[in-house]
Amino acid sequence: MKALVLLLCLAQLWGCQSAPPGAVPGYREPPCDDPETETVAMAAVKYLNENLLQGYKQILNQIDKVKVWPRRPFGEVYELEIDTLETTCHVLDPTPLENCSVRQLAEHAVEGDCDVHVLKQDGQLTVMHANCHSTPDSAEDVLKICPHCPLLASLNDTRVTHAAEAALAAFNAKNNGSYFKLVEVSRAQLVPLPVSTYVEFAVAATSCAAKDVADPASCQLLAEKQYGFCKATLTEKLGGEEVAVTCTVFPSQVADANPADPAAAVQAAPSAAPPAAMAVGPIVKALPAEPPAHRTHYDLRHAFSSAASVESASGEAFQPSKVAKPNAAAGGAAGPMVRPCPGRVRHFKI
Ligand SMILES: *[C@@H]1O[C@H](CO)[C@@H](O)[C@H](O)[C@H]1NC(C)=O
Ligand SMILES: *[C@@H]1O[C@H](CO)[C@@H](O)[C@H](O)[C@H]1NC(C)=O
Ligand SMILES: *[C@@H]1O[C@H](CO)[C@@H](O)[C@H](O)[C@H]1NC(C)=O
Repeated sequence: MKALVLLLCLAQLWGCQSAPPGAVPGYREPPCDDPETETVAMAAVKYLNENLLQGYKQILNQIDKVKVWPRRPFGEVYELEIDTLETTCHVLDPTPLENCSVRQLAEHAVEGDCDVHVLKQDGQLTVMHANCHSTPDSAEDVLKICPHCPLLASLNDTRVTHAAEAALAAFNAKNNGSYFKLVEVSRAQLVPLPVSTYVEFAVAATSCAAKDVADPASCQLLAEKQYGFCKATLTEKLGGEEVAVTCTVFPSQVADANPADPAAAVQAAPSAAPPAAMAVGPIVKALPAEPPAHRTHYDLRHAFSSAASVESASGEAFQPSKVAKPNAAAGGAAGPMVRPCPGRVRHFKI
């Protein structure tokens, strides 16, 4: 792991480089909670959310580090290290981030960690590079605050995939409109008592009508994509199983979408009881992010890594200035100063 981190750093060069000894560094270090720094961090989080295809929207939790490099010929590059948290809004959900709530610790929170480079030029902020990874909270920590809470389960556990399929079938059976297909299972928890599986998944409308689907495999996604997001609990009962599912279908993604079209909430089966309420004893799942088959969440690593990151499209790669420049803002003459970083924790620390 250490080796990997080092390798990533080497690949980034400027990400790891420290100012030459004895030289006045070419960068300045504004406070992490400076409004200027926060604006840049918010722009970075917006970029992450706009480019995520799976899982949940991220929200800013803490700014860990900031360096601002002059960029030739114009502008500045903000080199930021930020921590994010998963919200309860799926990335396909059009709800604005301000209206999304943070996934709480008891629900098994997931933290993101990103290195970003943001160019500020003529008042415009452009994300040039983003390198992230994300990790669920440790089982120990979840159980410390909530001893009976179910932990995140592997997304391709057979009970999880079965629960998602059964819930989607129940939704389609009550649905007058399009037949919906599974897009992804987004998170899941195995609840020991009563034996049940809680699952959240994304769906998409197809050209087939839900009422008469002969061959689901032949149903194509609509050209004007319409997504939905479902939460379901499948409870195992004597002699069968019971599924409760609630799906929210988002407005179609038309070029000029009809803003009057409200998101339709469709309810099937009795509404689900809070799945965590009666859980007894943890079910611990391995959390390695590496074999995607057994992952419990969508690691941001897969969306934003060194390889996948978007480098400056302007053609001119960002290079930290090699020329040591005296820096008024950093003011070495002002005497020793407590570095006001990392910044405040906006929600909670994992
Ligand atoms: C977001 O929250 C505000 C304030 O609570 C509310 O007025 C607004 O309708 C919400 N927007 C959406 C899309 O939920
Ligand atoms: C589904 O169709 C039936 C009969 O056409 C109608 O009575 C019912 O209200 C419809 N349900 C929904 C949710 O639109
Ligand atoms: C999980 O996924 C992998 C590959 O996608 C597959 O080989 C494996 O059998 C799956 N495990 C379960 C329990 O379905």
